[in-house]
Amino acid sequence: MDLMLAKEDGPTRPLAPNPKKRNAWVICLLIFLGTIILLALILVILALTVFKAKDVTVSVNSFKVKNLHSSIDPLPSMKAYLNATIILDLSVHNPNKVSFKYRHSTAEVEYNSVQVGEATFPDGNVPSDGTAGVNTTVTILADRLLSDSSFYSDVVSGSVPLSIYTTIAGKIKVLIIKKHVTTHTSCNITLNLQTWNVTDTQCKSKVSL
Ligand SMILES: *[C@@H]1O[C@H](CO)[C@@H](O)[C@H](O)[C@H]1NC(C)=O
Ligand SMILES: *[C@@H]1O[C@H](CO)[C@@H](O)[C@H](O)[C@H]1NC(C)=O
Ligand SMILES: *[C@@H]1O[C@H](CO)[C@@H](O)[C@H](O)[C@H]1NC(C)=O
Ligand SMILES: *[C@@H]1O[C@H](CO)[C@@H](O)[C@H](O)[C@H]1NC(C)=O
Repeated sequence: MDLMLAKEDGPTRPLAPNPKKRNAWVICLLIFLGTIILLALILVILALTVFKAKDVTVSVNSFKVKNLHSSIDPLPSMKAYLNATIILDLSVHNPNKVSFKYRHSTAEVEYNSVQVGEATFPDGNVPSDGTAGVNTTVTILADRLLSDSSFYSDVVSGSVPLSIYTTIAGKIKVLIIKKHVTTHTSCNITLNLQTWNVTDTQCKSKVSL
């Protein structure tokens, strides 16, 4: 015992590492690196295939008028008044394998490029491979058009053309990669002041990933 201890503590003992041990360590390191590279490759392949971000689409179900008041001051003042409440009922379809979270999404209503109303959509999620209803209520107040002569004649004729712009913005998180998705939908509608109907709805959508 004493002899062995003395031998181990001896100053002449060389510090050369055991070559077998070093080999084992190198193999371990290679296996570790190989596993990491393989995992990264699998993640990249998954991100490019199954989890590849696909376009989120927005469709318009209906625009419903809940309240509408219109009146005119005839000649000589020629003023037109309009206020209305419109419920925008949209569907958002998410074809991705992960859920789509939308935040701070907005709607805007314009008459001849003049803003007459705006609203925000409540934040929400659309499940993977799913569709969710997204609603909001816009209040239209056309006091900025009070003295607009084409607005006056539209109110007199009983049908007012409006444009409705919605932006549904959010993200999908594909594994560790976050992708921003924004869909813009613009619709031209005609608001009938007598029947409160919305007709001639024509919509276009654009998605940016
Ligand atoms: C909308 O119009 C009605 C009737 O003209 C009026 O009583 C109401 O105050 C108006 N609302 C707003 C917000 O101006
Ligand atoms: C949106 O409104 C429609 C009717 O206007 C209703 O059927 C639907 O359930 C609403 N969706 C949500 C998410 O509130
Ligand atoms: C307009 O509204 C009336 C009732 O207010 C309804 O009978 C009619 O079918 C509607 N027209 C259109 C085109 O939606
Ligand atoms: C709405 O009308 C404007 C002006 O006429 C036009 O430029 C736009 O393409 C229309 N949008 C849709 C969705 O039809």
